[in-house]
Amino acid sequence: MKLKNTVALITGAALGFKEGGPSIGSAIALKFASEGAKIVAVDIEEEMGRKTIEQVIENGGEGIFIKADVSKTKEVKDAINLIEKKYKELHILINCAASYEGNIFRNVVDTSEEEWKKIIDINLNGYFRFAKFAIPLILKSGGGNIVNISSCAAFNVLKNFCVYPVTKAAINALTRTLAIDFAPQIRTNSICPGFVRIANSEGDRTPEEIEEWINNISKSYPLKRACSVDEIANVALFLASNDSSYINGESIIVDGGRIVSDTHEF
Ligand SMILES: NC(=O)c1ccc[n+]([C@@H]2O[C@H](COP(=O)([O-])OP(=O)(O)OC[C@H]3O[C@@H](n4cnc5c(N)ncnc54)[C@H](O)[C@@H]3O)[C@@H](O)[C@H]2O)c1
Repeated sequence: MKLKNTVALITGAALGFKEGGPSIGSAIALKFASEGAKIVAVDIEEEMGRKTIEQVIENGGEGIFIKADVSKTKEVKDAINLIEKKYKELHILINCAASYEGNIFRNVVDTSEEEWKKIIDINLNGYFRFAKFAIPLILKSGGGNIVNISSCAAFNVLKNFCVYPVTKAAINALTRTLAIDFAPQIRTNSICPGFVRIANSEGDRTPEEIEEWINNISKSYPLKRACSVDEIANVALFLASNDSSYINGESIIVDGGRIVSDTHEF
């Protein structure tokens, strides 16, 4: 067991809205629990967050759910205090919560200042808040690992999708500052996924529409398929465990080779 005697906090750990479908955070929670970590699942979505912990326990693991909004400082502080009270220790922080709320498919001119600030406050400042309040407890616990879930959008941008890539590029910079400020006790790395199949992005599409949509996106990926949540959880396990003991401040791209492929063929 790679995470025996550890406590791991994962934000954005609720299962997907559609009958508990796949999400990256819940896949990480389940994977880490199977490797012996006690899981603290944090999310704003209570029902699906509790389902993640039900699945952890059904599979023989241990964990708790804490409802918290990553954009509210008090809720973040309260979550850390609760962990200290319940488990006394914390070793792993996985920052994963992100919101796609509102119309984020806009360019800078069409994005209101309010929408811009809101997404920054959840998707970027939420990572800052959890790092800020979790790090003292991780240090008190003897050190550990932070893994920030970033995105390929930190490098490769889509048209009319302006604020999300800005948060992800900043998360990679945050990763590097944490990596030098809190080493050697804490290693910090980020994961930059390409397109990962999750329940929440399926929206109101029919099953046929979902398959067509995913097949279309997959065409531009050298591996010709979307990434699964388990494939991200495997990398998170690598980065949060001693298997990656000399990796610090790195942003690992997990996109099946899309970013290195050219956009046209001869
Ligand atoms: N799915 C992809 O293709 C993809 C690609 C690259 C990066 N990512 C990143 O992976 C991470 C996980 O996303 P996902 O794809 O599993 O989507 P998801 O929607 O299933 O997960 C995001 C979770 O964050 C939670 N959340 C949103 N706002 C919150 C808030 N204010 N406070 C607390 N929790 C909040 C949501 O309830 C949800 O459970 C995100 O950081 C996302 O940007 C996803």
